[in-house]
Amino acid sequence: MRPTEDLVIEPLLSGDLVTLAQCAILDAEVFPHPSIPALVDPTGNAPTVWVARVARGRVIGFVAAARNMSVLEIVGLAVAPAHRRAGIARALVNTTVDAAEARRFRAVALHVSTTNAAAIALYDARGFSPARKLHGYYRSRNFGDGGNAWEMVLSLTRGHEQYEDGGIAKRVNRR
Ligand SMILES: CC(C)(COP(=O)(O)OP(=O)(O)OC[C@H]1O[C@@H](n2cnc3c(N)ncnc32)[C@H](O)[C@@H]1OP(=O)(O)O)[C@@H](O)C(=O)NCCC(=O)NCCS
Repeated sequence: MRPTEDLVIEPLLSGDLVTLAQCAILDAEVFPHPSIPALVDPTGNAPTVWVARVARGRVIGFVAAARNMSVLEIVGLAVAPAHRRAGIARALVNTTVDAAEARRFRAVALHVSTTNAAAIALYDARGFSPARKLHGYYRSRNFGDGGNAWEMVLSLTRGHEQYEDGGIAKRVNRR
């Protein structure tokens, strides 16, 4: 599918419940569990969510990213099945990486099921590398492979400060 020419990527603004509901519907369609964490976080670490639309239509994709110390962690990414292979996820991930660079994060990181070839190919093409394999990371056995996950990392420090072992995997973040 060709890239969508009138694709718009924009942040989800707090209080925009219609857009939030469209994200939740897409989330429920794509995942066997909710992937967007609570947007109201008492610790002040609520994720930033960007949504993809064509023109002013419904949400057809989203990415959610949360700060984890000096790392921006992608905690949710989905594109509606009818709109896949049109570069929408690539645009959402690029938006996240650009924001991480602008905010001087050290790296962008994420967890992905070892069985999710499409997502792994997407991240690999953007320069993410597998940092470690986490056995039984996902509680849901819907992922296959015993719930194993890759932790994938894109370093933004261009070599003078490396992503340190023991970063995001310390957090209890099972789904
Ligand atoms: C993974 C997902 C987000 C990809 O969304 P998408 O908008 O179709 O991806 P893009 O069109 O931006 O693809 C960009 C690149 O990723 C790779 N890619 C994406 N889907 C792929 C697939 N099904 N098979 C192989 N490579 C794939 C390709 O390298 C692609 O570039 P190309 O089309 O020029 O070959 C989408 O399939 C999805 O929502 N899956 C279910 C939810 C999910 O797995 N989320 C990620 C959790 S970590």
